[in-house]
Amino acid sequence: SGDLAKKKTYPSLFQLFCLGYLPEHFEVVGFARSPYTDESFREKMSGCLEGKGPEKFVAPFLSKCFYNQGKAYDDTASWEKLHVHATAFEEGVNHHSATSSCNRLFYFAIPPPQFAPSAQAIKFAAMSTAGWNRFIVEKPFGKDSESSAELARSLGSVLTEDQVYRIDHYLGKEMVQNLMVLRFANIFLSPLWNRDSVKCVIISFKENFGTEGRGGNFDEFGIIRDVMQNHLLQILSLVAMEPPVCVSGGNHSNYVRDEKVKVLRCIPPLALDDVIIGQYCAANGKPGYLDDETVPEGSKCPTYCLAQFQINNSRWAGVPFIMKAGKALNERKAEVRIQLKCPPGHSTMFAGHDMPNNELVIRVQPDEAVYMKMNVKMPGFRTQPMMTDMDLDYKSSFPELSATIPDAYTRLILDVLRGEQSAFVRNDELEAA
Ligand code: BG6
Repeated sequence: SGDLAKKKTYPSLFQLFCLGYLPEHFEVVGFARSPYTDESFREKMSGCLEGKGPEKFVAPFLSKCFYNQGKAYDDTASWEKLHVHATAFEEGVNHHSATSSCNRLFYFAIPPPQFAPSAQAIKFAAMSTAGWNRFIVEKPFGKDSESSAELARSLGSVLTEDQVYRIDHYLGKEMVQNLMVLRFANIFLSPLWNRDSVKCVIISFKENFGTEGRGGNFDEFGIIRDVMQNHLLQILSLVAMEPPVCVSGGNHSNYVRDEKVKVLRCIPPLALDDVIIGQYCAANGKPGYLDDETVPEGSKCPTYCLAQFQINNSRWAGVPFIMKAGKALNERKAEVRIQLKCPPGHSTMFAGHDMPNNELVIRVQPDEAVYMKMNVKMPGFRTQPMMTDMDLDYKSSFPELSATIPDAYTRLILDVLRGEQSAFVRNDELEAA
């Protein structure tokens, strides 16, 4: 019944329904403590489906949505009630069809300390015994190494790793998924992708809005735990890792994740000197972080951070990886910049002229794009080099396809239904990160 359900989970399930990706027989059952009936819950959810798919699909989708009020997330009696509901539905289906497998996907949009107790109660009262059971969980996975390890331990004592899908929605973004293809399907990039040619790598995330009344929650974590440790570090590992044996496919879920763990383990922990932090204050008529009433007075929580990483392996030793993230900045943008070195001898050959560095830019959002900043001769009589963009803008290059790029959650929920784990964070990867 919370924010994530309204903004992401239900709209994504609806999109999958409209596109025909959900199985023929399914139900979505909301489980929370708030008092709703099936009807009032459908009404609440109908608002968040607007514009997410053709209007004609809204009623058929909502007719598959139900609500089950529970006393608490770890209350087995409440889960038994849900189990009875689900079993009745499954028996009804099986009565009419040849298949007898019943799969259940549990999406935990609840506070992480509730993960293990809820999973325990579900295991006791509401697991399917005739198909798979999968569980989606989402950050924050603890606040530091100890609390994260404790969370992992408690969840691991109830569920097996192949049942757990740790979602990081950046892994479902089109351009983040594209990193694999860009890097490994273009031979002209391969020889450049290392310390011989790369001067530095910059991964940045900017938002043009502040916490705006949701600062209380943010304040417990700050920008480093909220965005950098997860979303940006995922991008960094995909940019820096070695080629996986194979990029996807149900049985190959571990190849990409193995490579991510390896590269993460080559990154020494940051020291204070590697980091600059900041907090936004009131400017241009917009409130500062401390003006948010939900933020504790005098909070020193960082809303901005710049960090410089090193990757101590043969490909990257000595190349700075710079990560920047901030709320309430001048624009909304997430991108990766691979900045290349200048060609050797350029200061003699092009004496007297500036030689800007080549850069490959991968824009994750808004408006997905890949462009290469390259030097050409300034058109006309002169031989002076000038910088220009070799530009692949998705909107103009793929007008139809780019309009239908699925939301990150939509893509990832589909992966869970298919049992494809490569775009989810494995336990050892989380620990290394
Ligand atoms: C979330 C963070 O994980 O990602 C938010 O908790 C942040 O603070 C959001 O705003 C950014 O996601 P996106 O998809 O809008 O870039």
